Amino acid sequence: MENSLNFETQLEEKTAYVQEVIARYFPAGEGFAARISDVMRYSLEAGGKRIRPLLLYESCLIHHADPAAAEPFFAAIEMIHTHSLMHDDLPALDDDELRRGRPTAHVIFGEAAAILAGDALLNLAYETVLDSFSDGYEQDRQAVPGGCLMAREVAADHLARRWRALRILAEKTGRRGMLGGQSVDVENDRRSDLVPDRATLDFIYEAKTAALLEAPLMIGAVLGGAEAEEISRMEKIGSRLGRIFQIRDDILDLTATEEVLGKPVRSDVENEKITMVSLLGREMAHASGHDCTEEEMLQMGILSAEKQIRHLTEETLQMLREVPGDTEFLEQLIQKMSDRRR
Ligand code: IPE
Ligand code: IPE
Ligand code: MG
Ligand code: MG
Ligand code: MG
Repeated sequence: MENSLNFETQLEEKTAYVQEVIARYFPAGEGFAARISDVMRYSLEAGGKRIRPLLLYESCLIHHADPAAAEPFFAAIEMIHTHSLMHDDLPALDDDELRRGRPTAHVIFGEAAAILAGDALLNLAYETVLDSFSDGYEQDRQAVPGGCLMAREVAADHLARRWRALRILAEKTGRRGMLGGQSVDVENDRRSDLVPDRATLDFIYEAKTAALLEAPLMIGAVLGGAEAEEISRMEKIGSRLGRIFQIRDDILDLTATEEVLGKPVRSDVENEKITMVSLLGREMAHASGHDCTEEEMLQMGILSAEKQIRHLTEETLQMLREVPGDTEFLEQLIQKMSDRRR
């Protein structure tokens, strides 16, 4: 009990910190282009759980990377994630009108504004990280006492780590990551003529959701100078966490309320989306040999999806035990994400 109280207090404090970082890196809007900044701010500041920067913060602590030096990445990953949500809600994709407890950006500002502000948030993420490169190099060089050569070597090593981290961020966002996953996700909407297959769904979950949870875990390790084996372990942990996170999201779409979630429920049903719940439900109905209604299939799918979450969570926590470093908070965070209600 004391442990969980302690976790909740720490979670609140850490969330407040990353929240402050995100706000600090958002530039003031001015001049003729003030509108686009207003729309970006509207979506970014609406809140959200801030899971991705929290994972990055924790990975920095575990791998002894300086969180202050990683702050531009905290802001960048949340900007990219918010961009993904703004575009995910557009009429051309999931067509949803509520996000983070507020009307979606396109409902308030119009579709063109939401598309452009979403693009601009994605771009701002890279601007934010790139801006920090030259400042960081100079700070590192001055911070190292002793000979000029050694200071330059340390600074150059830190710079190389940042480039590597930026490369991971870009790859996990793009064609082979979140955007590729989103593309296959919407391609499969309303395709009851196709037999949904596990391989496609696995790709969708890995790419649209897991990639943006892998990136922060890997970036913390890279910035801390971890070996390749450790970076790969963080990627695998993120991959499983991504599946847990998306399966839970699919279950909540059917079982939660709009008030608690801050986004519409039954959106997946309306879009006739293939999700783990609908796929498992169909598989179970088929195995039972009975004619089931769509609703019965979904109920069976929920039970089976819950089992998958439990199995994946155990596997993830097991992998976390191999990580050299203090993983207690991360363990509890993963457990919380696995049981989340919003
Ligand atoms: C929602 O992500 C999109 C999915 C990947 C399921 P979050 O549940 O992290 O959304 P916010 O940031 O808390 O609003
Ligand atoms: C979207 O998955 C994942 C993203 C990359 C945005 P969903 O479409 O299920 O996310 P929600 O339910 O709208 O948040
Ligand atoms: Mg979607
Ligand atoms: Mg959606
Ligand atoms: Mg969803």
